Amino acid sequence: MHTKQDIVILAIESSCDDTAAAVMVNGIIQSNVVATQKVHEQYGGVIPELASRAHQQNIIPVVDRSLKDAGISKNEISAVAFTRGPGLLGSLLVCSSFAKSFSLTLGTPLIGVDHLEAHVLAHFIDGNSPGFPFLCLLVSGGHTHIVKVDSPDKMEVIGKTLDDAAGEAFDKAAKMMGLPYPGGPHLDTLAQKGNPGRFAFPDSRVGDLDFSFSGLKTSILYFLRDEKEKNPDFIEQNLNDLCASIQHTIVSYLMRKLIKAIKQTQIKEVAISGGVSANSELRKVAANLAEKHGWNLHIPALQYCTDNAGMIAMAAHFKYLENRFDDQSVVPFARMK
Ligand code: KG4
Ligand code: ZN
Repeated sequence: MHTKQDIVILAIESSCDDTAAAVMVNGIIQSNVVATQKVHEQYGGVIPELASRAHQQNIIPVVDRSLKDAGISKNEISAVAFTRGPGLLGSLLVCSSFAKSFSLTLGTPLIGVDHLEAHVLAHFIDGNSPGFPFLCLLVSGGHTHIVKVDSPDKMEVIGKTLDDAAGEAFDKAAKMMGLPYPGGPHLDTLAQKGNPGRFAFPDSRVGDLDFSFSGLKTSILYFLRDEKEKNPDFIEQNLNDLCASIQHTIVSYLMRKLIKAIKQTQIKEVAISGGVSANSELRKVAANLAEKHGWNLHIPALQYCTDNAGMIAMAAHFKYLENRFDDQSVVPFARMK
């Protein structure tokens, strides 16, 4: 049984296609439950209306499981936290409405959390936390950002993608080669048996610390089309080398921008998160660079890298410490603030 002094946070996340809930007590994670929606696989991408409907079905069992896993009863909760945005509006409405009703019923404070800030603060969940200031490369299916983090409530986006996210680049390339959705992990597995130097793809020359993946996508599309005209079995015969070459192009591009950000800011505390941080080459190359350049590299456990409610709880814990609560008039936001 927790006392009144304990900070017990129930956090709920439903910004895209994962319904998640977590419980955190005094900054220590107690449960982290995620229901991944399989319904989108057959369409090769997330269908917003199906995502909202699946959140509606999943949210009560997921919250229930997170409380049971943590051994917490409803009356022990000190605050209810939820993802305000950015994300799919219909999906965000599910966690925000649920959290608002729950906090009203329990009579506890309500905390709305920015999804991107939560990804950055996920680095504080499992012990190997970066010191401030640090740089965070956030790479997932929805985000590609470089964030300069001075404190839990002072962050600045110093670089971001102008079009697709890095995960989308992996997924779209994989789709063009006939791999199942989401293609990133499949491409990674095949790439391990291929030659990364076999095919060269250009990367975009957008300014400074920003990213662009649309040019790469187009060049892969035309390259595959031209090669298939000459040999219809080109993809099947060269799949491993294609995967390795595409992966190498994306990872080198991400690392070049990260190196540039580190040079500009002179910050050597470096953190990487988001689903793409699971990529085996990204992890290997980042670890080698860290050793070579003397960076302190932090990559959280994968369950806190991909969309999860543990990171929402962590961000809410920092807000709770500063009494930064929301009232019932709080509304979700679909786009980045
Ligand atoms: O963080 P996440 O689970 O969800 C979003 O917020 O988007 O990231 C999912 C993305 C997908 O695009 C997926 O293909 C990519 O992360 N991903 C990978 C790998 N594992 C997941 N991309 C490349 N290599 C991987 N091993
Ligand atoms: Zn995310």
